[in-house]
Amino acid sequence: MTPHVIEPDPQAGAAVKAADRAHVFHSWSAQGLIDPLAVAGAEGSYFWDYDGNRYLDFTSGLVYTNIGYQHPRVVAAIQEQAAKLTTFAPAFAIDVRSEAARLIAERTPGDLDKIFFTNGGAEAVENAVRMARLHTGRTKVLSAYRSYHGATSTAINLTGDPRRWASDNGSAGVVRFWAPFLYRSPFYATTEAEESARALQHLEDTIAFEGPATIAAIILETVPGTAGIMTPPPGYLAGVREICDKYGIVFVLDEVMAGFGRTGKWFAAEHFDVVPDLMTFAKGVNSGYVPLGGVAISEKIAATFDKRPYPGGLTYSGHPLACAAAVATIQVMEDEKVVENAAHIGENVLGPGLRELAERHPSVGEVRGLGVFWALDLVKNRETREPLVPYNAAGEANAPMAAFGAAAKKNGLWPFVNMNRTHAVPACNVTEAEAKEGLAALDAALTVADEHTA
Ligand SMILES: Cc1ncc(COP(=O)(O)O)c(C=O)c1O
Repeated sequence: MTPHVIEPDPQAGAAVKAADRAHVFHSWSAQGLIDPLAVAGAEGSYFWDYDGNRYLDFTSGLVYTNIGYQHPRVVAAIQEQAAKLTTFAPAFAIDVRSEAARLIAERTPGDLDKIFFTNGGAEAVENAVRMARLHTGRTKVLSAYRSYHGATSTAINLTGDPRRWASDNGSAGVVRFWAPFLYRSPFYATTEAEESARALQHLEDTIAFEGPATIAAIILETVPGTAGIMTPPPGYLAGVREICDKYGIVFVLDEVMAGFGRTGKWFAAEHFDVVPDLMTFAKGVNSGYVPLGGVAISEKIAATFDKRPYPGGLTYSGHPLACAAAVATIQVMEDEKVVENAAHIGENVLGPGLRELAERHPSVGEVRGLGVFWALDLVKNRETREPLVPYNAAGEANAPMAAFGAAAKKNGLWPFVNMNRTHAVPACNVTEAEAKEGLAALDAALTVADEHTA
Protein backbone atom coordinates (compact mmCIF):
# COMPACT_ATOMS: atom_id res chain seq x y z
CA MET A 1 0.00 0.00 0.00
CA THR A 2 1.33 3.46 -0.86
CA PRO A 3 0.29 5.51 2.12
CA HIS A 4 -1.18 8.93 1.84
CA VAL A 5 1.29 11.49 3.19
CA ILE A 6 0.15 14.97 4.12
CA GLU A 7 2.01 18.04 2.93
CA PRO A 8 4.80 19.04 5.31
CA ASP A 9 3.71 21.72 7.76
CA PRO A 10 6.59 22.39 10.18
CA GLN A 11 4.75 25.30 11.80
CA ALA A 12 1.81 23.11 12.79
CA GLY A 13 4.28 20.50 14.04
CA ALA A 14 6.04 23.10 16.19
CA ALA A 15 2.69 24.15 17.74
CA VAL A 16 1.79 20.52 18.54
CA LYS A 17 5.20 19.99 20.11
CA ALA A 18 5.03 23.20 22.15
CA ALA A 19 1.61 22.32 23.62
CA ASP A 20 2.85 18.80 24.37
CA ARG A 21 5.91 20.08 26.19
CA ALA A 22 3.80 22.58 28.12
CA HIS A 23 1.07 20.20 29.29
CA VAL A 24 1.56 16.49 28.55
CA PHE A 25 3.27 14.48 31.28
CA HIS A 26 4.84 11.47 29.55
CA SER A 27 5.20 7.86 30.73
CA TRP A 28 8.55 6.49 31.93
CA SER A 29 10.37 9.76 31.23
CA ALA A 30 12.34 12.55 32.85
CA GLN A 31 10.03 15.26 31.57
CA GLY A 32 12.77 17.81 30.96
CA LEU A 33 14.94 15.44 28.95
CA ILE A 34 12.55 14.22 26.26
CA ASP A 35 11.87 15.44 22.75
CA PRO A 36 8.81 13.56 21.46
CA LEU A 37 8.31 13.46 17.70
CA ALA A 38 5.16 15.31 16.59
CA VAL A 39 3.21 12.84 14.48
CA ALA A 40 0.95 14.15 11.72
CA GLY A 41 -0.66 10.90 10.58
CA ALA A 42 -0.43 7.16 10.08
CA GLU A 43 -1.71 4.50 7.73
CA GLY A 44 -1.00 0.78 7.47
CA SER A 45 2.60 0.11 8.48
CA TYR A 46 3.73 3.76 8.23
CA PHE A 47 3.46 7.04 10.10
CA TRP A 48 4.79 10.48 9.27
CA ASP A 49 5.76 13.72 10.94
CA TYR A 50 5.05 17.38 10.08
CA ASP A 51 8.39 17.79 8.30
CA GLY A 52 7.58 15.29 5.56
CA ASN A 53 9.51 12.35 7.05
CA ARG A 54 7.80 8.99 6.75
CA TYR A 55 8.71 6.01 8.94
CA LEU A 56 8.11 2.30 8.55
CA ASP A 57 6.88 1.35 12.02
CA PHE A 58 8.81 -1.72 13.19
CA THR A 59 7.36 -1.24 16.70
CA SER A 60 3.60 -1.46 15.96
CA GLY A 61 3.20 1.42 18.41
CA LEU A 62 3.94 -0.42 21.64
CA VAL A 63 3.55 -3.77 19.86
CA TYR A 64 -0.21 -3.45 19.48
CA THR A 65 -1.27 -2.17 16.05
CA ASN A 66 -1.44 -5.73 14.73
CA ILE A 67 -3.60 -4.69 11.76
CA GLY A 68 -1.65 -1.48 11.15
CA TYR A 69 -2.94 2.07 11.47
CA GLN A 70 -6.33 3.35 10.33
CA HIS A 71 -7.74 0.12 8.96
CA PRO A 72 -10.85 1.46 7.17
CA ARG A 73 -13.18 -1.35 8.29
CA VAL A 74 -12.31 -0.90 11.94
CA VAL A 75 -12.52 2.89 11.73
CA ALA A 76 -15.97 2.52 10.14
CA ALA A 77 -17.09 0.05 12.83
CA ILE A 78 -16.11 2.53 15.56
CA GLN A 79 -17.96 5.32 13.74
CA GLU A 80 -21.07 3.16 13.34
CA GLN A 81 -21.02 2.11 16.99
CA ALA A 82 -20.57 5.75 18.05
CA ALA A 83 -23.70 6.66 16.11
CA LYS A 84 -25.65 3.69 17.49
CA LEU A 85 -24.68 3.45 21.19
CA THR A 86 -21.46 5.19 22.19
CA THR A 87 -21.37 3.98 25.75
CA PHE A 88 -23.31 1.90 28.23
CA ALA A 89 -22.62 0.67 31.76
CA PRO A 90 -21.07 -2.78 32.20
CA ALA A 91 -23.91 -4.40 34.17
CA PHE A 92 -26.11 -4.59 31.07
CA ALA A 93 -26.06 -7.05 28.17
CA ILE A 94 -25.04 -5.13 25.04
CA ASP A 95 -24.96 -6.76 21.59
CA VAL A 96 -21.47 -5.66 20.64
CA ARG A 97 -20.00 -6.65 24.03
CA SER A 98 -21.60 -10.10 23.83
CA GLU A 99 -20.28 -10.52 20.28
CA ALA A 100 -16.73 -9.44 21.18
CA ALA A 101 -16.70 -11.89 24.10
CA ARG A 102 -17.98 -14.68 21.87
CA LEU A 103 -15.39 -14.03 19.15
CA ILE A 104 -12.56 -13.90 21.69
CA ALA A 105 -13.72 -17.01 23.59
CA GLU A 106 -13.99 -18.94 20.31
CA ARG A 107 -10.29 -18.28 19.68
CA THR A 108 -8.79 -18.71 23.15
CA PRO A 109 -7.46 -22.22 23.86
CA GLY A 110 -9.30 -24.95 25.79
CA ASP A 111 -12.10 -23.96 28.13
CA LEU A 112 -11.16 -20.29 28.50
CA ASP A 113 -14.70 -19.33 27.60
CA LYS A 114 -15.66 -16.45 29.91
CA ILE A 115 -14.28 -12.98 29.26
CA PHE A 116 -13.80 -10.23 31.87
CA PHE A 117 -13.13 -6.97 30.04
CA THR A 118 -10.68 -4.32 31.22
CA ASN A 119 -9.25 -1.15 29.68
CA GLY A 120 -5.79 -2.58 29.06
CA GLY A 121 -3.14 -5.13 29.95
CA ALA A 122 -2.15 -4.11 33.48
CA GLU A 123 -5.77 -4.17 34.67
CA ALA A 124 -6.12 -7.60 33.08
CA VAL A 125 -3.13 -8.82 35.10
CA GLU A 126 -4.47 -7.21 38.31
CA ASN A 127 -7.78 -9.01 37.88
CA ALA A 128 -6.23 -12.34 36.91
CA VAL A 129 -4.19 -12.26 40.11
CA ARG A 130 -7.24 -11.30 42.16
CA MET A 131 -9.21 -14.20 40.66
CA ALA A 132 -6.35 -16.62 41.37
CA ARG A 133 -6.04 -15.44 44.97
CA LEU A 134 -9.76 -15.72 45.64
CA HIS A 135 -9.99 -19.08 43.87
CA THR A 136 -7.14 -20.62 45.86
CA GLY A 137 -7.37 -18.67 49.12
CA ARG A 138 -3.59 -18.14 48.81
CA THR A 139 -1.60 -14.93 48.38
CA LYS A 140 1.80 -15.41 46.72
CA VAL A 141 2.32 -15.10 42.98
CA LEU A 142 5.43 -16.33 41.18
CA SER A 143 6.70 -14.39 38.16
CA ALA A 144 9.81 -14.37 36.00
CA TYR A 145 12.70 -11.92 36.36
CA ARG A 146 12.74 -11.35 32.61
CA SER A 147 9.16 -10.11 32.31
CA TYR A 148 6.87 -7.13 31.95
CA HIS A 149 3.27 -7.31 33.18
CA GLY A 150 2.14 -3.67 33.38
CA ALA A 151 2.47 -0.54 35.49
CA THR A 152 -0.34 -0.71 38.07
CA SER A 153 0.52 -1.71 41.63
CA THR A 154 0.40 -5.51 41.49
CA ALA A 155 1.38 -5.70 37.81
CA ILE A 156 4.51 -3.58 38.28
CA ASN A 157 5.51 -5.67 41.30
CA LEU A 158 5.10 -8.82 39.17
CA THR A 159 7.25 -7.24 36.48
CA GLY A 160 10.87 -8.35 36.46
CA ASP A 161 12.50 -5.58 34.43
CA PRO A 162 13.95 -2.42 35.99
CA ARG A 163 10.77 -0.44 35.49
CA ARG A 164 9.69 -2.21 38.70
CA TRP A 165 12.46 -0.90 40.93
CA ALA A 166 11.02 2.53 41.70
CA SER A 167 7.63 1.08 42.69
CA ASP A 168 8.72 -2.20 44.27
CA ASN A 169 6.96 -2.21 47.62
CA GLY A 170 7.96 -5.78 48.37
CA SER A 171 4.58 -6.46 49.95
CA ALA A 172 2.55 -7.63 47.00
CA GLY A 173 3.27 -11.30 47.71
CA VAL A 174 5.42 -11.64 44.62
CA VAL A 175 8.28 -14.11 44.34
CA ARG A 176 10.42 -14.02 41.20
CA PHE A 177 12.20 -16.90 39.51
CA TRP A 178 14.32 -17.51 36.40
CA ALA A 179 12.48 -18.69 33.32
CA PRO A 180 14.41 -20.35 30.47
CA PHE A 181 16.64 -18.30 28.15
CA LEU A 182 19.26 -20.51 26.57
CA TYR A 183 21.39 -17.75 24.99
CA ARG A 184 21.97 -16.24 28.44
CA SER A 185 21.20 -19.35 30.46
CA PRO A 186 20.87 -18.80 34.21
CA PHE A 187 21.37 -22.57 34.50
CA TYR A 188 24.63 -22.97 32.53
CA ALA A 189 22.70 -25.12 30.07
CA THR A 190 23.99 -25.79 26.57
CA THR A 191 20.93 -27.37 24.96
CA GLU A 192 17.24 -26.52 24.93
CA ALA A 193 16.42 -29.82 26.64
CA GLU A 194 18.86 -29.02 29.46
CA GLU A 195 17.55 -25.47 29.80
CA SER A 196 13.95 -26.68 29.97
CA ALA A 197 14.66 -29.41 32.54
CA ARG A 198 16.82 -27.18 34.75
CA ALA A 199 14.38 -24.27 34.60
CA LEU A 200 11.56 -26.59 35.67
CA GLN A 201 13.65 -27.99 38.52
CA HIS A 202 14.49 -24.43 39.65
CA LEU A 203 10.80 -23.50 39.60
CA GLU A 204 9.81 -26.56 41.58
CA ASP A 205 12.62 -25.91 44.11
CA THR A 206 11.41 -22.32 44.47
CA ILE A 207 7.89 -23.58 45.15
CA ALA A 208 9.14 -26.10 47.71
CA PHE A 209 11.07 -23.45 49.65
CA GLU A 210 8.28 -20.86 49.44
CA GLY A 211 5.68 -23.39 50.58
CA PRO A 212 3.37 -24.76 47.89
CA ALA A 213 0.26 -24.04 49.99
CA THR A 214 1.10 -20.31 50.02
CA ILE A 215 1.20 -19.90 46.24
CA ALA A 216 -1.91 -18.75 44.40
CA ALA A 217 -0.52 -18.40 40.88
CA ILE A 218 2.40 -18.61 38.50
CA ILE A 219 2.29 -15.94 35.82
CA LEU A 220 4.37 -16.11 32.65
CA GLU A 221 4.32 -14.35 29.34
CA THR A 222 3.85 -17.25 26.90
CA VAL A 223 6.69 -15.72 24.87
CA PRO A 224 8.24 -12.91 26.93
CA GLY A 225 8.00 -9.71 24.89
CA THR A 226 9.73 -6.54 26.04
CA ALA A 227 12.10 -8.70 28.10
CA GLY A 228 13.60 -10.09 24.91
CA ILE A 229 11.32 -12.44 22.91
CA MET A 230 12.60 -15.70 24.34
CA THR A 231 10.54 -18.53 22.88
CA PRO A 232 10.38 -21.15 25.64
CA PRO A 233 12.14 -24.45 24.89
CA PRO A 234 10.03 -27.49 24.08
CA GLY A 235 8.42 -28.98 27.15
CA TYR A 236 8.84 -25.99 29.45
CA LEU A 237 5.30 -24.61 29.47
CA ALA A 238 3.82 -28.11 29.57
CA GLY A 239 6.08 -28.73 32.57
CA VAL A 240 4.85 -25.57 34.29
CA ARG A 241 1.28 -26.73 33.65
CA GLU A 242 2.08 -30.05 35.38
CA ILE A 243 3.71 -28.31 38.35
CA CYS A 244 0.67 -26.05 38.74
CA ASP A 245 -1.65 -29.05 38.68
CA LYS A 246 0.50 -30.92 41.19
CA TYR A 247 0.37 -28.09 43.76
CA GLY A 248 -3.07 -26.62 43.05
CA ILE A 249 -1.52 -23.41 41.69
CA VAL A 250 -3.38 -21.29 39.11
CA PHE A 251 -1.46 -21.00 35.84
CA VAL A 252 -1.77 -17.54 34.27
CA LEU A 253 -0.43 -16.89 30.80
CA ASP A 254 0.01 -13.22 29.91
CA GLU A 255 -0.71 -12.86 26.19
CA VAL A 256 -1.09 -9.09 26.24
CA MET A 257 1.76 -8.77 23.74
CA ALA A 258 2.06 -12.30 22.28
CA GLY A 259 -1.67 -12.76 21.60
CA PHE A 260 -3.86 -11.95 18.62
CA GLY A 261 -1.63 -13.05 15.80
CA ARG A 262 1.76 -11.71 16.86
CA THR A 263 3.42 -15.15 16.88
CA GLY A 264 1.63 -16.42 13.77
CA LYS A 265 -1.17 -18.07 15.79
CA TRP A 266 -4.18 -16.46 17.41
CA PHE A 267 -2.53 -17.10 20.77
CA ALA A 268 1.08 -18.11 21.42
CA ALA A 269 -0.10 -20.88 23.79
CA GLU A 270 -1.19 -22.82 20.67
CA HIS A 271 2.49 -23.32 19.71
CA PHE A 272 3.07 -25.20 22.95
CA ASP A 273 -0.21 -27.06 23.32
CA VAL A 274 -0.85 -25.66 26.78
CA VAL A 275 -4.05 -24.33 28.27
CA PRO A 276 -3.65 -21.98 31.24
CA ASP A 277 -6.35 -21.41 33.87
CA LEU A 278 -6.42 -17.69 33.10
CA MET A 279 -5.12 -15.78 30.12
CA THR A 280 -4.68 -12.02 29.91
CA PHE A 281 -4.98 -10.12 26.64
CA ALA A 282 -5.10 -6.49 25.40
CA LYS A 283 -3.22 -4.68 22.60
CA GLY A 284 -3.90 -6.78 19.45
CA VAL A 285 -7.48 -7.62 20.51
CA ASN A 286 -8.52 -4.47 18.65
CA SER A 287 -5.09 -3.14 17.65
CA GLY A 288 -5.50 -0.51 20.36
CA TYR A 289 -7.93 1.54 18.28
CA VAL A 290 -9.92 2.01 21.51
CA PRO A 291 -8.41 0.87 24.85
CA LEU A 292 -9.40 -2.73 25.67
CA GLY A 293 -7.99 -5.68 27.56
CA GLY A 294 -9.32 -8.60 29.48
CA VAL A 295 -8.99 -11.95 31.18
CA ALA A 296 -10.13 -15.18 29.54
CA ILE A 297 -11.32 -17.43 32.36
CA SER A 298 -11.47 -21.22 32.57
CA GLU A 299 -14.62 -23.04 33.57
CA LYS A 300 -13.11 -24.06 36.93
CA ILE A 301 -12.24 -20.50 37.97
CA ALA A 302 -15.43 -19.01 36.54
CA ALA A 303 -17.38 -21.52 38.68
CA THR A 304 -15.80 -20.04 41.84
CA PHE A 305 -17.80 -16.91 41.12
CA ASP A 306 -21.09 -18.59 40.14
CA LYS A 307 -22.74 -18.01 43.50
CA ARG A 308 -20.14 -15.76 45.10
CA PRO A 309 -19.82 -12.24 43.67
CA TYR A 310 -16.56 -11.40 41.96
CA PRO A 311 -15.24 -8.39 43.89
CA GLY A 312 -13.87 -6.38 40.98
CA GLY A 313 -15.11 -4.12 38.21
CA LEU A 314 -14.44 -1.09 36.04
CA THR A 315 -16.73 1.69 34.85
CA TYR A 316 -15.68 1.09 31.25
CA SER A 317 -15.49 -2.72 31.34
CA GLY A 318 -16.49 -3.88 27.86
CA HIS A 319 -16.94 -0.35 26.51
CA PRO A 320 -19.11 -0.52 23.36
CA LEU A 321 -16.64 1.45 21.20
CA ALA A 322 -13.76 -0.79 22.27
CA CYS A 323 -15.84 -3.93 21.73
CA ALA A 324 -16.99 -2.75 18.29
CA ALA A 325 -13.34 -2.24 17.40
CA ALA A 326 -12.55 -5.76 18.66
CA VAL A 327 -15.37 -7.36 16.65
CA ALA A 328 -14.26 -5.57 13.47
CA THR A 329 -10.57 -6.29 14.10
CA ILE A 330 -11.15 -10.01 14.59
CA GLN A 331 -13.32 -10.13 11.45
CA VAL A 332 -10.62 -8.27 9.47
CA MET A 333 -7.97 -10.64 10.78
CA GLU A 334 -10.05 -13.62 9.63
CA ASP A 335 -11.05 -12.18 6.23
CA GLU A 336 -7.58 -10.89 5.37
CA LYS A 337 -5.74 -13.90 6.81
CA VAL A 338 -3.68 -11.63 9.03
CA VAL A 339 -2.58 -14.39 11.40
CA GLU A 340 -1.49 -16.57 8.47
CA ASN A 341 0.38 -13.58 7.06
CA ALA A 342 2.27 -13.11 10.34
CA ALA A 343 3.35 -16.76 10.22
CA HIS A 344 4.36 -16.48 6.55
CA ILE A 345 6.36 -13.28 7.06
CA GLY A 346 8.16 -14.86 10.02
CA GLU A 347 9.02 -18.08 8.23
CA ASN A 348 9.85 -16.72 4.80
CA VAL A 349 10.92 -13.10 5.11
CA LEU A 350 11.84 -11.82 8.58
CA GLY A 351 13.32 -15.04 9.98
CA PRO A 352 15.64 -15.77 7.02
CA GLY A 353 16.31 -12.05 6.46
CA LEU A 354 17.35 -11.38 10.06
CA ARG A 355 19.54 -14.51 10.13
CA GLU A 356 21.21 -13.32 6.95
CA LEU A 357 21.91 -9.95 8.62
CA ALA A 358 23.42 -11.80 11.58
CA GLU A 359 25.88 -13.52 9.26
CA ARG A 360 27.22 -10.18 8.06
CA HIS A 361 27.04 -8.08 11.23
CA PRO A 362 29.33 -8.97 14.15
CA SER A 363 27.11 -6.94 16.52
CA VAL A 364 24.30 -9.49 16.20
CA GLY A 365 24.75 -12.15 18.88
CA GLU A 366 21.46 -13.98 18.43
CA VAL A 367 18.35 -13.81 16.27
CA ARG A 368 15.27 -15.28 17.90
CA GLY A 369 11.54 -15.15 17.45
CA LEU A 370 8.57 -16.30 15.42
CA GLY A 371 5.74 -14.73 13.43
CA VAL A 372 6.25 -10.95 13.53
CA PHE A 373 7.89 -11.14 16.94
CA TRP A 374 11.69 -11.05 16.57
CA ALA A 375 14.65 -9.91 18.66
CA LEU A 376 18.21 -9.18 17.68
CA ASP A 377 20.42 -9.54 20.76
CA LEU A 378 23.26 -7.11 20.09
CA VAL A 379 26.67 -7.86 21.57
CA LYS A 380 30.13 -6.34 21.89
CA ASN A 381 31.63 -9.68 21.19
CA ARG A 382 30.03 -12.83 19.83
CA GLU A 383 32.33 -15.17 21.74
CA THR A 384 31.76 -13.66 25.18
CA ARG A 385 28.16 -12.61 24.37
CA GLU A 386 28.79 -9.41 26.34
CA PRO A 387 25.75 -7.19 25.64
CA LEU A 388 26.42 -4.17 23.41
CA VAL A 389 25.39 -1.99 26.38
CA PRO A 390 25.15 -2.97 30.07
CA TYR A 391 21.79 -4.01 31.59
CA ASN A 392 19.57 -0.94 32.07
CA ALA A 393 22.28 1.40 30.69
CA ALA A 394 21.50 5.11 30.39
CA GLY A 395 23.29 8.19 29.07
CA GLU A 396 26.81 7.69 27.73
CA ALA A 397 26.78 3.97 28.58
CA ASN A 398 23.83 3.55 26.23
CA ALA A 399 25.44 5.49 23.37
CA PRO A 400 25.91 2.49 21.03
CA MET A 401 22.20 1.62 21.15
CA ALA A 402 21.24 5.28 20.79
CA ALA A 403 23.47 5.50 17.70
CA PHE A 404 21.88 2.35 16.29
CA GLY A 405 18.38 3.79 16.84
CA ALA A 406 19.28 7.13 15.26
CA ALA A 407 20.74 5.34 12.21
CA ALA A 408 17.55 3.29 11.78
CA LYS A 409 15.41 6.44 11.87
CA LYS A 410 17.71 8.14 9.36
CA ASN A 411 16.97 5.20 7.07
CA GLY A 412 13.20 5.57 7.45
CA LEU A 413 12.67 2.83 10.03
CA TRP A 414 11.18 3.44 13.47
CA PRO A 415 12.93 0.76 15.55
CA PHE A 416 11.98 -0.91 18.81
CA VAL A 417 15.02 -0.57 21.06
CA ASN A 418 15.22 -2.04 24.57
CA MET A 419 18.54 -2.31 26.41
CA ASN A 420 20.93 -4.20 24.09
CA ARG A 421 18.19 -5.41 21.78
CA THR A 422 16.20 -4.30 18.81
CA HIS A 423 12.92 -6.04 18.16
CA ALA A 424 11.45 -6.41 14.69
CA VAL A 425 7.75 -6.25 15.56
CA PRO A 426 5.87 -4.80 12.59
CA ALA A 427 2.13 -5.10 12.06
CA CYS A 428 0.86 -8.66 11.55
CA ASN A 429 -0.39 -7.60 8.11
CA VAL A 430 2.97 -6.17 7.04
CA THR A 431 3.63 -6.95 3.38
CA GLU A 432 6.68 -8.80 2.08
CA ALA A 433 7.91 -5.59 0.45
CA GLU A 434 7.54 -3.63 3.71
CA ALA A 435 9.31 -6.33 5.70
CA LYS A 436 12.18 -6.28 3.17
CA GLU A 437 12.32 -2.49 3.37
CA GLY A 438 12.66 -2.86 7.14
CA LEU A 439 15.45 -5.41 6.76
CA ALA A 440 17.37 -3.05 4.47
CA ALA A 441 17.11 -0.21 7.01
CA LEU A 442 18.20 -2.56 9.83
CA ASP A 443 21.15 -3.60 7.67
CA ALA A 444 22.31 0.02 7.45
CA ALA A 445 21.73 0.67 11.16
CA LEU A 446 23.60 -2.48 12.22
CA THR A 447 26.67 -1.16 10.43
CA VAL A 448 26.67 1.59 13.08
CA ALA A 449 26.24 -0.98 15.89
CA ASP A 450 29.15 -2.98 14.43
CA GLU A 451 31.46 -0.02 15.12
CA HIS A 452 31.02 -0.71 18.84
CA THR A 453 32.07 -4.35 18.72
CA ALA A 454 35.48 -5.58 19.81
C1 LIG B 1 3.07 -8.93 28.45
C2 LIG B 1 2.46 -7.65 28.90
N1 LIG B 1 1.60 -7.65 29.91
C3 LIG B 1 1.00 -6.52 30.34
C4 LIG B 1 1.27 -5.30 29.74
C5 LIG B 1 0.60 -4.06 30.24
O1 LIG B 1 -0.36 -3.62 29.33
P1 LIG B 1 -0.91 -2.12 29.39
O2 LIG B 1 0.23 -1.23 29.05
O3 LIG B 1 -2.02 -2.12 28.38
O4 LIG B 1 -1.42 -1.89 30.77
C6 LIG B 1 2.16 -5.26 28.67
C7 LIG B 1 2.47 -3.97 28.00
O5 LIG B 1 3.39 -3.85 27.23
C8 LIG B 1 2.77 -6.45 28.24
O6 LIG B 1 3.65 -6.46 27.22
